[in-house]
Parts: sequence; C-alpha cells; structure tokens
Amino acid sequence: MKRVYIETYGCQMNVADTEIMLSVLQREGFVPTETPDGAELLLVNTCAVRDNAEQRVIGRLGELQRCKPAGGVLGVVGCMAQRLGPILLERVPRVDIVAGPDAYRNLPALVAAASAGQRTSDTQFRTWEHYEDVPPVRETAASAFVTVQRGCDYKCTFCIVPYTRGPERSRKLEDVVREVAGLVEQGTSEVTLLGQTVNSYSDGEHDFADLLRAVGAVDGIRRLRFTSPYPTDFTGRVIEAMATVPAVCEHVHLPVQSGSNAVLRRMLRRYTREQYLEVVTQLRSTIPGITFSTDIIVGFPGETEEQFEETLSLVAQADFDDAYTFKYSVREGTPAVRIPNHIADEVAGDRLERLIAAVRNQARRKNMGRVGTIHEVLVERPARRGGLLLGRTRTNLLALVDLPPEAIGEYHQVQLTGTTGSTFTGTVTRPSLAVL
Ligand code: SAH
Ligand code: F3S
Repeated sequence: MKRVYIETYGCQMNVADTEIMLSVLQREGFVPTETPDGAELLLVNTCAVRDNAEQRVIGRLGELQRCKPAGGVLGVVGCMAQRLGPILLERVPRVDIVAGPDAYRNLPALVAAASAGQRTSDTQFRTWEHYEDVPPVRETAASAFVTVQRGCDYKCTFCIVPYTRGPERSRKLEDVVREVAGLVEQGTSEVTLLGQTVNSYSDGEHDFADLLRAVGAVDGIRRLRFTSPYPTDFTGRVIEAMATVPAVCEHVHLPVQSGSNAVLRRMLRRYTREQYLEVVTQLRSTIPGITFSTDIIVGFPGETEEQFEETLSLVAQADFDDAYTFKYSVREGTPAVRIPNHIADEVAGDRLERLIAAVRNQARRKNMGRVGTIHEVLVERPARRGGLLLGRTRTNLLALVDLPPEAIGEYHQVQLTGTTGSTFTGTVTRPSLAVL
C-alpha cells in the first residue's frame, strides 16, 4: 500500500484540483492519508496570487522535506509550481516533482521518474484539459465544488492567474450536469460552480444562464452557488436565470478590486465604478434579500489617498456584507510590474487597516439588524467551540446551532439570536426539514 498526503493552499479550485489528483493517484494504487508522517508521496498544492502565500509554502516545504521517508517523493503542484517550474527544483533541494495545473494526468509518470532518482518538472499548458474522465475523489458531503471553467483570459494587470492556469476553457454543459447528478446520488444537495470568471462560461453552445438552469433542474439540488463571477458578465439572461431558478442562492461574491475609475483602468478591469454599482443595483432589484461579498486590493501602483478614499466610499455605497481585502503584491511577469509609483508598504498597510475597519463596522451594523430573523440553514460541520455545529444560510451568513453531530448535512429553520458582528448564534425553530 502506498500512501499519498496532499496539503492544499489557496482557492476553492485548488481544493477541487486536489480531488482530481487523488483520483489520478488512486488508479495507481495510492491511498490518501491525513498526515504527512510515513506517506510515500507528499504533495503541496500551491497558490501564487500573493507573495506571502508563496513564502508560506517555501517554509512548509522545509518542514515537509524532513517528513519525507527514504525513497519517498516530495512534489510541488498548483499555481506556484507553474509559475516557478524548474526554479523550484533548484531552490528546494529535496523537492522531486514540480507539476502545474494542466499536468496532473502526468503525475504517475513524474512519480515513477522521481522514484528512479530523476527530478522533473511539467509546466506544459494543455488547453484541452478538463480531467473529464477523472472523477474527483471527494468525501461524501452535503456540499461540493464543481469546476466548470479552467484558466482565465481577462489578464487584469495585477494577476498571475492567467499565466499559471492558462487560457479560459469551459466544460460541456452535459458533462457538468452528469457530474452533479452523480453527486446528488452520493447525498450532495448543494453545489458551488467554480471558474475564474465563471459567468463568462461558454461551451460553444450554452452560456452561464443555460448552465444555471440545467444544474438547478437536477433533481435533489437544493442550493446552487458559483464563484467568482465577473461584473460585466452578468447579462440579462444570467440575472433572469438567477431570479427564476429556485436553487440559486441569494448571495454573490463579486470582486470589485477598487472604487476608483483611474485605478480600475490601470488594473485593466473592464468596468467603471458606476457600471459595477449598476450591476449590484440590478441584482438587488431582481433578487430580493441578496447579499454581496467582494475582493479589494489596496496600494495598487499609483493609488493616491483620494483614490483609496473612493474605495472606502464604494464599500458604503455598494453596501457590501463582507469583503476579502488584500495589500497589492508585486507578481513578476504581470503587466502591473511596469506601472510606476509603487506604494510604500507602510502606506498600503495603513490603508488596509482602515479598509478592514470600515468593512467590519459595516458588517457589524448590518448583522445586528439581522438578529431575530429566521433563515434556512444547511448544517456544515462542527464549530470550534462548545460542541456546537456551524450552519450557513442561503445568503451566506454563518450561524452556530446547538444540534447533535447527526444533523450535519441537514436543513433546519433557524432564528438568529445574536451576533459577534460577523457570525451568528441561532436556535432551531422547527424540528427538521431535512431532505431525504
Ligand atoms: N478571478 C478570480 C481571482 C483570483 S485571485 C476570482 O474572482 O476568484 C483572487 C483575488 O486575489 C482577486 O480577486 C484579487 O482581489 C486578489 N489578488 C489577485 N492578485 C493579487 C495581487 N497581485 N496582489 C494582491 N491581491 C491580489
Ligand atoms: Fe485574475 Fe482578473 Fe482573471 S483577477 S483570475 S486575471 S479575472
């Protein structure tokens, strides 16, 4: 028996890719294990979006190479592997394999070569690759991620993803529907469709609106989510499908990046502040109760204090419920490297703090107003404290509920009783509305 340990960093697509790698390796007789100790094959699935994500991986590789048994194999996979390729083999002496996101089918050959003492990297783009015949190895769960689109063609000037995941390509609608139907048979009732600009999905015949309708029509799918959409790809057809397909949840994660038109232009985002807000308004008016989260970068090259303040005012105007906030990180090989006026780290750090405070205050105020309301909650997992379970509303609010472990995977009506400002406590108002 050969054991494989995979540690996953970064986005949800990496989580989904790890499930594909497990499938490829299982065919070769590998069994997954939860700890690195004693595993013959150790893989780190990496993120390259920001420098600190990469530094963490470098540190972790130092630790993992000490766990590697004699004759064992250590590999770096994912976006950082794609970005650095053979450089990683030079930099980390005990790494044997480097494989990018399109090279996972080739892992068995790379492992065999490594076992024979050959250190190799495979960073070739295979623009046809969808791993269609590689069924992801998932733990049975109520909720699952399904990749529908790989790569990205948008080339925002700050972003490394187009260079690590290659060009955009979409899976066939029928293939996605088949996978979702299979998931339902295993007990899944919530799926999140994944893509870098997921609502630009097109398989040549069907657009994202068709995909939402087709997946939403799979018998047993009770919740349908997607991440991340691009603001200008919310066509009338997509919004219409969101509003009419009952499974589509009332929450959108809609990365804005900045509230300043000048900064958006330098980022090569394809919308203005006004157009972004228009999309938010349109979604709010069509889908009652919808909530919004976003991604924001501060300290982009040339960002002035006034331009940063425009981001602060956008947070208020868009009335976001939550935001993931980042300090701009220089990515070698992206166009933004050449934009003059890099912002001093103290200035960017100060802006980040002010932005986080603004987001937090706004979220707290909005969440206080939600105490007392009743929501359908899908119970996801044990919470960290007090033997409680953590559930999620359709609008993506998190609530701690006092239910037995068997309730994981069930739907309950929950009244929100209190909030920390970000998460809630709640009580079950009606016994159970579990889907069987
Ligand atoms: N299209 C993807 C984006 C992937 S990167 C999606 O929408 O999910 C995720 C987020 O990381 C981006 O939205 C952006 O806010 C942030 N990010 C990307 N490159 C960055 C950089 N160089 N520095 C700081 N943050 C960055
Ligand atoms: Fe990155 Fe922009 Fe694509 S943020 S993943 S280049 S849409």
